[in-house]
Amino acid sequence: MTLDDVPQDLLKAARAARARAYVPYSQFAVGSALRTNKGTVFAGCNVENAAYGLSRCAEQSAVLAMVNAGETIIDEILVIGDHVEPVSPCGACRQIIWEFGKDTTVYMLSEAGEVAVLSSRELLPLGFILNS
Ligand code: THU
Repeated sequence: MTLDDVPQDLLKAARAARARAYVPYSQFAVGSALRTNKGTVFAGCNVENAAYGLSRCAEQSAVLAMVNAGETIIDEILVIGDHVEPVSPCGACRQIIWEFGKDTTVYMLSEAGEVAVLSSRELLPLGFILNS
């Protein structure tokens, strides 16, 4: 699979978000875009902080935008960075995606052209669910 094979509207939105990444510490800009079950697209970039641990990933930014707009189901999400390898969501982001999609398609891309695609369930086997 190549960059031409992924949803082009998500790729465009993720790249636009990536251009807005706030990354003075790592210089590693990441963009993400997701599509909800209603077809709406939300995007986000990573936002770093001088207290490094407070930095937020691009996927989290996109999910926060979705929830703030009143939606909660992710059909597919794309993440891209300028890397040789496809950008793979960190463990925290996997759980955050899992919260809003148990069978979400996750496109992991590098600007170098590498693409990997897995489901949220494959990325996070036995993801945590709080049953009341
Ligand atoms: N980062 C993301 O935004 N998403 C990922 O999937 C991997 C890592 C960010 C966090 C930090 O701002 C920078 O990339 C370097 O780790």
